[in-house]
Amino acid sequence: MCGIVGYTGHREAFPVIVKGLKRLEYRGYDSSGVALLNNGQLNVYKKKGKVSEMEESVIGKDLHSHIGIGHTRWATHGEPSDRNAHPHQSQSGELAMIHNGIIENYAQIKQELLAKGYTFKSDTDTEVLLNFIEDIKKNNNCGLEEALRIALKRIVGAYCILLISPEDPETIIAARKGSPLVIGIGKGEHFLASDASPIIEYTKEVVYVNDYEIAIIRPDELILKNLGNEKQTPFIQKLDMELAAIEKGGYEHFMLKEIHEQPDTIFDCLRGRLLVQTGQIMMGGIENNLDAFIHAQRIIIVACGTSWHAGLIAEYLIEELCRIPVEVEYASEFRYRNPVINKGDVIIAISQSGETADTLVALESAKEKGAFIFGVVNAVGSSIARLSHGGAYTHSGPEIGVASTKAFTGQLAVLSMMALKIGRAKGTLDEKRYLQLMQDLETIPEKVKEILNDTSNIERIAEKYKDASDFLFLGRGYNFPVALEGALKLKEISYIHAEGYPAAEMKHGPIALVDEKLPVVFVATKDSYYEKIVSNVQEIKARKGKVIAVATTGDEIIPGMADDVMFVPDADETIAPLLSVVPLQLLSYFVGKAKGFDVDKPRNLAKSVTVE
Ligand code: M6R
Repeated sequence: MCGIVGYTGHREAFPVIVKGLKRLEYRGYDSSGVALLNNGQLNVYKKKGKVSEMEESVIGKDLHSHIGIGHTRWATHGEPSDRNAHPHQSQSGELAMIHNGIIENYAQIKQELLAKGYTFKSDTDTEVLLNFIEDIKKNNNCGLEEALRIALKRIVGAYCILLISPEDPETIIAARKGSPLVIGIGKGEHFLASDASPIIEYTKEVVYVNDYEIAIIRPDELILKNLGNEKQTPFIQKLDMELAAIEKGGYEHFMLKEIHEQPDTIFDCLRGRLLVQTGQIMMGGIENNLDAFIHAQRIIIVACGTSWHAGLIAEYLIEELCRIPVEVEYASEFRYRNPVINKGDVIIAISQSGETADTLVALESAKEKGAFIFGVVNAVGSSIARLSHGGAYTHSGPEIGVASTKAFTGQLAVLSMMALKIGRAKGTLDEKRYLQLMQDLETIPEKVKEILNDTSNIERIAEKYKDASDFLFLGRGYNFPVALEGALKLKEISYIHAEGYPAAEMKHGPIALVDEKLPVVFVATKDSYYEKIVSNVQEIKARKGKVIAVATTGDEIIPGMADDVMFVPDADETIAPLLSVVPLQLLSYFVGKAKGFDVDKPRNLAKSVTVE
């Protein structure tokens, strides 16, 4: 994620930038920094921690400037630290740059630069790109704009970058592909930011820069060009939003925003890893530890809450595709029941925050007993990520809503790729199915987008059932953990008692709850359990229960029996939870909202549970 801000004009740049960065902290806050130009002097200040910590650290320093760039970071390459914080300076010290995105081919470019004698002060892909630009500028004897254009033609990945240099002391050069950039147009001044929230109090006129465009911005001038050096006409739009709304990207709540971000976050998670054309899955963490997985006698998954539900789905995936026995443990139970851990066991820890105390303590004790720990974590550089021997980040970006949504689908995307990669290497997954599942996984972001296109039906269903005092969620196979997750979401957000059960287990007890007042949510997509779940729906209908079904688009049998239906596109059953969970996230959101609760900060909960 990361947030970026830039300013050139008649005001003092530092206060404008710092205020803007604070508004963008939802995009990441592990370190921040600014670069300011004053009388041909480039001053760069950066610090690990929140923007306020950087602000405090520069008290008494030379902050006078009318042009500057600032960054608040959510680490991807390199741990959160002062030296990995942006802005970065080029080898000569003449260029300063901030970057939001990931340069996928940075390793190759870094090798080339190292061979030419370049040295690097940080672990970031950003510093590699910056020195690459400087190298091109030097070798071609050209200006910064031209050097940038040449560099970007070689870059694979996503970026929004801002560059400044004492050589051109009133100009910011910006470029974007895949990461957002908004330019605010003032009188004799321009503002740049990742979203409009840092801009709106100064001007309502903005230009949204498009992919593959370069912007040359001076106090009185905004020039847009494409990568072919052809001028583009800036399309000026009027912002029609309140500041508060913009901070949430126009959404009423962070939870809703995060649900809607899922096509992008799942795409980001797969990007650079799932290479369908070459049939490869590139995951360094697995590659480096492939032997441990292939020869594992057993895999133990340790997690809490929503992450534990992702672990249950991984159990189905890994056992089916890799034929390795899997146990899924609540971290808090695992820690305190003196578990048997044998040589050859692999422990997978799943955590959004990477700071959950129950999970962390469970891992510490397993590590002491000699277990190999693999972390599937969202927050880069977090405690669980650092404690793990290897791992894979989910790249879902900062999750602010307490109810986990996009982190869950990020976890499922990572765990699916892991199972595919290990199954293929182990020879338990035949090539045809491997390639087919890769292709299916690649289509998931688009299919999630389809579900999110129109949510009015789900909102209507939420309104209809919002006063129920209990809910039952049922599913089978891969959709059983989805039923658990649907129940947890509803409990968290709407404070309605909800239980998740395997649909067939219902007849062993919970069916006694069923009457005409009980809504029963069936996760009933087309899979190998379909016929069985049709019978389970009939059993509920025979007892006058109200059935709300998550069904596959085009299915006519389940919708014919259910009272209300939420449709999802078809997908292989191994990855179907990435889709079937989305309507349940929305259902809980709309019920909580209809009941007037604070869905982003539900009572008694915290985003990161750092106590045991
Ligand atoms: O950060 P973690 O994934 O380790 O957090 C685990 C649980 O605390 C978390 O999933 C919690 O259950 C969420 N509030 C669920 O929405």
